[in-house]
Formats: sequence, structure tokens, C-alpha cells
Amino acid sequence: MINSETRLVALFGSPVKNSLSPFIHNYLYEKYKVNSIYTCFDIENIKEGIDSLKVLNFKGINVTIPHKVEVINYLDEIDFNAKFVGAVNTIKNENGILKGFNTDGDGFVKSILDTNYNLENKNVLVIGAGGSSRSICISLCNQKIKTLKIFNRTIEKALDIKNIIDENFETEALVSSEKIKELDLENIDVIINTTSIGMESDECPISRGIIPSENLLVCDIVYKPHETEFIKWAKSNSLNVIYGIDMLINQAFEGFYILNNIKPNKEDYNYIIKNII
Ligand code: ATR
Repeated sequence: MINSETRLVALFGSPVKNSLSPFIHNYLYEKYKVNSIYTCFDIENIKEGIDSLKVLNFKGINVTIPHKVEVINYLDEIDFNAKFVGAVNTIKNENGILKGFNTDGDGFVKSILDTNYNLENKNVLVIGAGGSSRSICISLCNQKIKTLKIFNRTIEKALDIKNIIDENFETEALVSSEKIKELDLENIDVIINTTSIGMESDECPISRGIIPSENLLVCDIVYKPHETEFIKWAKSNSLNVIYGIDMLINQAFEGFYILNNIKPNKEDYNYIIKNII
């Protein structure tokens, strides 16, 4: 029921046209009877967008491509984790004070932990070194993984992440700009694609001819299509997989918790996953 007290929440980005966030968040607002409504705004100038949050007294927003890094300049406070990552995907308006958070990495890690998989002491290979990768790598190190190999075509971005890890965590970080070879997967427990390779295309971030060891857990953050070529490669080798949609839902749940202090549960997850794919 929308009335004079309904608070606004939204996704700011460009493009936002096919976003699944309104479906997830409006389901939660309705279910938990919180008087807020979630919509999307295609925003080019993020500074102007942020100014509007105070003017219109938004409860908060999510931020997506291409504004996750720039937006930091216009906020009053940045949470510890988001500062580490250097990118924000959730902003809370606390009585006119705008505070930035990043839920990408923790949302992703929750997708793995929810399957009762223990990340401690594991060897992980991450493909990509962009904003999502930074957040995921830091959340993985918080889980005390043993080693992290970052493969990215632009080595400097991978080195940036390695430097943060070297200074702040026990995890041993390695980088490469080479193509992934079968040998690189030896002793690896988890492999994660954080690039956009495979998004609405039939490209695969790894050579399909590579035969992995049988206990490798394969994770993709791309959720369109649901079964990416990377996930298909994993399944054709009978490996366990984590789909991109899991991370999308879990980062949304973390963001909903930050704004509303309500933790969505497994029933919410099941409803959303059933109706979103
Ligand atoms: P996001 O915020 O979603 O992580 P991003 O910061 O633009 O987006 O990062 C995208 C990542 O995917 C980068 O690591 C990028 O590699 P570069 O750092 O070399 O640009 C990687 N990526 C995107 N398209 C790619 C492609 N076709 N081949 C290899 N890497 C690709």
C-alpha cells in the first residue's frame, strides 16, 4: 500500500533496463510489510543522482555499473569493507548522512557457505580483477583461504588486488595475465569467473578442452544466461557449480539487511529463485 509515508529505494546505474533488483526488493518489502518501494533510475551523472537522495529523502539505493567507484567521492561515510574494495554498491541515508557499503563479496561468499562448503585453507583461482573481483577477493580472504591466484588480461589490476591482500591478510596472493592452462588448476579447490565473459554470449572464460580435477567447485557471477558456457563446461566434467543468480540474490539480501535491519531467509531465497529464472 503506497501512501504519503512510503520511502523510496532504487537502483542507480546505466543501463538498468533489465535489472532483476526491483523484483527481489519489492518482494521483500511486501513480505516484511516495510513501507518502501523499489525502482530503477538510468543515471548518467552520479553526482547529481546522489544529490537527489537527500532532496527526496530516499531510504537508500543500490549502485551498479558504471558508478560503483566514482560514487565514493560523494558520500559522507564509507564502511571499512567498501573502503578496502574501493567500490560501493549500497548506500544508506541515515538522517541525511549518506553511508556507503559493498555487499558483492559477502553476498558471493554466502552463496558458497550456504552449500555447507568451508573455504578455510582452500586454494582459489579468480578470473578477472575488476570491481566485482576486488570485493570477492577480499571476502574470500576474510574466510581465511590459503592461496588466491588472480588471472586477468590487465596485470596491473590484478597486482592492485595482490597488494591489498599482501598488506592485510595471511592469504598468499599470486597473479598472472596468461591464458589459464590445465596445470594452473592443479591443487585448486574453487574457480570463480568474475569477468563479464559469457554474459549474453557463448564465450567461455576458460578453454573448454581443459580437464579439471574432480573436486573443483566452479562459480560464475554471470547470471544471464543462467547456464553460462563456463557452468556448462563444469557440468560436462561433473563438477559442482554455484550460479551467478545466487550471488545476485545474496548481495541483494545483504543490502536489504543494511537498509532495514531484517535478514531475508531461505524461504525468501527459494521463492525468488523459483520465480526469477
Ligand atoms: P565489474 O564491476 O562487473 O567487475 P569491471 O570493473 O569493468 O566490472 O571489470 C570487468 C573485468 O572483466 C575486468 O577484469 C576485465 O579485464 P581487464 O581488467 O583486462 O579490462 C574483465 N574482462 C571483461 N571482458 C573481458 C574479455 N573479453 N576478456 C578478458 N577479460 C575481460
